[in-house]
Amino acid sequence: MQDAGAGTTRWVWRVRAGDVAFDAPADRSILASAEAAGVAWASSCRNGTCRTCLRRLEIGEVAYGIEWPGVLPDERSEGWFLPCVAFPRSDLVLAAADDQTLPVT
Ligand code: FES
Repeated sequence: MQDAGAGTTRWVWRVRAGDVAFDAPADRSILASAEAAGVAWASSCRNGTCRTCLRRLEIGEVAYGIEWPGVLPDERSEGWFLPCVAFPRSDLVLAAADDQTLPVT
């Protein structure tokens, strides 16, 4: 989705997680967008190290705001990501919170 205003172009994606859906600007972390929409997701460090916010992506693409987020390559390939340091690069479909089996580390 493209949202043009005041001479600028801003990308705003749509995130769906189970029965919850919200808009997510490309320049805001997915966790911050969830909170701005009134969605309460677990979080703690907010810098990609504690893994409290770990969620599983079913469809879509994210980019990280830090070089080494705390997700292993195998976990990434299974769709796990950290919303506190991830930014949307497409519309996203996430597993519902009760439809996730957290990886053991
Ligand atoms: S809140 Fe700690 S990794 Fe996301």
